[in-house]
Amino acid sequence: MPDDIDELRTQIEAESIESAEEAEAFRIKYLGRNQGAIPDLFDQIGELPPEERPEFGKRLNALKEFAQERLDEAKARLEREEQSGGADVDLTLPGRRGFRGSTHPLTQTTEEILRILHGLGFSTYEGPEIETDWHNFSALNFPPDHPARDMQDTFFLQDEDDASADAPTVLRTHTSPGQIRIMEEQAPPIRVAVPGRVYRNEAISYKSFCLFHQVELLYVDEDVTMAQLKQVLYSIARALFGDDVTLRFRPSYFPFTEPSAEVDVWWADDESEDGGQWMEILGCGMVHPNVFDAVGVDTERYTGYAVGMGVERMAMLRHGIDDIRVFYENDVRFLDQF
Ligand code: DAH
Repeated sequence: MPDDIDELRTQIEAESIESAEEAEAFRIKYLGRNQGAIPDLFDQIGELPPEERPEFGKRLNALKEFAQERLDEAKARLEREEQSGGADVDLTLPGRRGFRGSTHPLTQTTEEILRILHGLGFSTYEGPEIETDWHNFSALNFPPDHPARDMQDTFFLQDEDDASADAPTVLRTHTSPGQIRIMEEQAPPIRVAVPGRVYRNEAISYKSFCLFHQVELLYVDEDVTMAQLKQVLYSIARALFGDDVTLRFRPSYFPFTEPSAEVDVWWADDESEDGGQWMEILGCGMVHPNVFDAVGVDTERYTGYAVGMGVERMAMLRHGIDDIRVFYENDVRFLDQF
């Protein structure tokens, strides 16, 4: 009979308990009051010679404890597994990182520009990306043979079934057709910002991409002057780049403005020989009378200014980015930084 204790222990050690049913079966088999193996042995103590009983009782008690511990452990483990959906969880592992999206840097810069403009009294207007030749070129005073209409720059669309004059035929090459659309819809005074995508059939490189973003400004009223234009551009540049920003106005040519200018911002760079460089950020000018004529605005009464700025250029300057293509690669390691 003392040998039975050793045998039982070996047997218990070999048991595996993998479910609630197996745990209950284990309990009945070894610990059950009614014919469980261990209680049975307790019942048989009286059959031993009296001097052997204390030692046997002690060993049997230890075996009972051992069986109870195995059962308790198994039950606790099963409960943990159930709560964690099956797997035994290692609570010491680091947690998984939750991904949070962020606003694209181009959207951030556009929104920042629009926020500044709203503060200056400009509302927002959005025109279509597929434009008519008339809105994109003719009404903006581009002569029929202007090089900008050339296949190199413009993505032309052809709709064989629609040969009407206002059929959509190009992907807009700039946001300036927004000027035409707003003046078709509204009489002056007009003070509007037109943000949006534009498309150009250019060779892709670190500085040009087949699509990019612009924000167009148009202000039309009585007695609008170039001095007001400069003032507004300084306000925008200070808000975007800081109070000590330096701007340079260069005379330029655009078909839809006269006079026209391009504006550069001084970009300080201690490493460079000259201490920095001029970076072009926008084109602007006074609205050409031919443009007003195209949309029926009275050129005797009204004048206006227009501005077109590149959002990518602004974002690259603000964030120190030197390759335009990163905006379009959707690399999370880049986007994550904004
Ligand atoms: N539309 C011109 C471009 O994409 C930029 C521009 C220049 C817009 C002068 C204007 C302007 O409104 O007055 O190159």
